[in-house]
Amino acid sequence: MSVSCDMLVFGGTGDLALHKLIPALYHLHLERRLHPQMRIVALARQALSRDAYLQLAERHCRAQLPRSEFQHESWLEFSERLDYFAMDASQRGDFVRLAHHLGHAEGRLRIYYLATAPGLFAPIAANLEAAGLANEQARVVLEKPIGHDLASALAINAAIGQVFAESRIYRIDHYLGKETVQNLMALRFANALFEPIWRAGHIDHVQITVGETLGVENRGGYYDQAGAMRDMVQNHLLQLLCLVAMEAPVRFDAESVRNEKVKVLEALKPITGLDVQDKTVRGQYIAGQVGGHDVPAYYFERHVDNDSDTETFVAVQAEIDNWRWSGVPFYLRTGKRMAKKTSEIIIEFKPVPHMLFGNSQANRLVIRLQPDECISLQLMAKAPGKGMQLEPVELDLNLAHVFRQKRRWDAYERLLLDVIEGDSTLFMRHDEVEAAWRWVDPILKGWQGYYRKPRPYPAGSNGPEQARQLLERHGRYWA
Ligand code: BG6
Repeated sequence: MSVSCDMLVFGGTGDLALHKLIPALYHLHLERRLHPQMRIVALARQALSRDAYLQLAERHCRAQLPRSEFQHESWLEFSERLDYFAMDASQRGDFVRLAHHLGHAEGRLRIYYLATAPGLFAPIAANLEAAGLANEQARVVLEKPIGHDLASALAINAAIGQVFAESRIYRIDHYLGKETVQNLMALRFANALFEPIWRAGHIDHVQITVGETLGVENRGGYYDQAGAMRDMVQNHLLQLLCLVAMEAPVRFDAESVRNEKVKVLEALKPITGLDVQDKTVRGQYIAGQVGGHDVPAYYFERHVDNDSDTETFVAVQAEIDNWRWSGVPFYLRTGKRMAKKTSEIIIEFKPVPHMLFGNSQANRLVIRLQPDECISLQLMAKAPGKGMQLEPVELDLNLAHVFRQKRRWDAYERLLLDVIEGDSTLFMRHDEVEAAWRWVDPILKGWQGYYRKPRPYPAGSNGPEQARQLLERHGRYWA
């Protein structure tokens, strides 16, 4: 059972709060992980009564969770914790009203979850402080993206740092809360098998793909300003890259893990000048078919500019300039409205030095995060019969099946509980966020100069043709 606290969710009527945070908190409640006195207050501008908010939250929770996991009785119990307060986060006076509403609670832990646009982070922090709501124990959770470039991220980190100590700032990247992502660390650092070959001498290249079949849904307004680079690559994909590439931390604690991750980000080779054209591909989906349904082009999505140059697909050839990884490309790829929803990391090993049996494919280690969590190793084996006819086979470890007795936690459940318990190991430190922007900024800048217009790709495909070429010109293929 965790400690008693108040969790205040700014952006309480937004997609994130309704689709992820409230259902995750409800689950934690179901599992009796929340202290009986814990309160949750959703904050947003909409003038809703508490009852109207409860109905809204219930509707979304029912829609998000499998039927078997939603229990009416427990929901009623959970909703006792849930409150709604209408306010404008940019108005200082509203914070005084909020303080009044919350009442005096000497020494009570308050957690502020900023599920809002990053432009509001600094004003909210300043307003919390002015209203006396940011005491010594208070914690703040920031949703990605932190800013839209390095300068804005530095400004946000500085402004938040004025109010909250770094140890009380939780920069969330929900990919770090996914089971398989943590399993990646277990695989690397709890098994002696991989370490000797986890390096340039043995690995040909790494692929990290996060493909989605969804479009931008009703987040067009945000997405059109952000694009896939800021929405996915700067955070989720780079975090995955860090976990694949980092050295073993001395301890599994926040500082040791984050020290190692930041070293990887700092070793990323800058992509500037002509390299932007050579090593990156940006695309935007046009009309096509996904799962047998016709879907419109990105520029016809709601709240998206008809003339939009925003990318919905990115592929990048990243390189890490350090002893372990020198010369090993890390191909990153992400896109909306792709052929299938899949998130996977592929480690492709070097081919055998001498082909004894004619055909032999290089070994691949596949770490799949979604839709099914599994780790599989592709090996060559002899097919039955006369002669040495080899075929690739898979050694498959389906984690969902192996641990079928245990419920899979949603990433947000795990991370929200970590915040309540004060464990920031799976959150990003300010220097990680800044190092990631330092690498991303020149690419974004290059895109403004070289080709403003993203390459079109039909919805339901694997992205623009150029993404295929990015690998093929080096004799490699996307898995
Ligand atoms: C979010 C992005 O951080 O991650 C979304 O803002 C994206 O655009 C989502 O759809 C993907 O998360 P998941 O867990 O569904 O892979």
